Amino acid sequence: MSAREEFDSWAAEGRDKGMEDRHWHTAKHVLARMPVEAGETVVDLGTGSGYALRALRETADIGRGYGLDGAPEMARNAASYTDDDAIGFLVGDFDALPVADNSVDHVFSMEAFYYARDPLHTLEEIRRILRPGGTFYCAVNYYEENEASHAWQDNIAIEMTRWNRAEYREAFRDAGLHVAEQDTIADREIDIPPAETFPTEDWETRAAMVDRYRTWGTLLTVGVAP
Ligand SMILES: C[S@@+](CC[C@H](N)C(=O)[O-])C[C@H]1O[C@@H](n2cnc3c(N)ncnc32)[C@H](O)[C@@H]1O
Repeated sequence: MSAREEFDSWAAEGRDKGMEDRHWHTAKHVLARMPVEAGETVVDLGTGSGYALRALRETADIGRGYGLDGAPEMARNAASYTDDDAIGFLVGDFDALPVADNSVDHVFSMEAFYYARDPLHTLEEIRRILRPGGTFYCAVNYYEENEASHAWQDNIAIEMTRWNRAEYREAFRDAGLHVAEQDTIADREIDIPPAETFPTEDWETRAAMVDRYRTWGTLLTVGVAP
């Protein structure tokens, strides 16, 4: 199954907005950390509803934002949520970014990178399009240390890459990016009910839910192009 087949149906069901609501809890902290200057160009890989670029236009006054997604329906939805001419949405795959060499100041990606068919090659593509000193803010909730995320692969037909923190750093370096930072960002907004309400439909124990959201949350790895 391709990203197009899987995620076009998500977009048609309106799940892009649900993802935006959930991911915003930690994505907003990632966006706030990006060293973005007014007028710069940002690419959002696996843009979904395109919320990251809408936010960066407001908070950082970016000059251009390009949201890339492999699912045309996602890109269509994202375009319909803004009338800002400085933001554009592209259909394309992480395998071959339709972006010129050395043309981008920052790349952002939230909950999408691990769907890349060849993630090391995608990192090389990111390195190719970044200007010297440009950054890649890579945020994922599906990673080895976040044990509750492991089961997600059972519900999705696309093969997902589950690296641990060290593997992310190593792959960034193999692709020619310096690793400037790595951190986990807890989701402090999701409501975690009292212990006596467990098990719930989704969680066996309160401890497991705390581990998923408060202990681990989102893994952020920051690469810088030399
Ligand atoms: C889980 S959603 C996350 C969307 C958004 N970044 C967010 O935080 O809500 C992953 C997105 O990545 C896109 N995607 C997955 N694999 C892709 C690929 N190989 N190339 C381009 N886009 C891809 C999907 O279509 C989907 O919109």
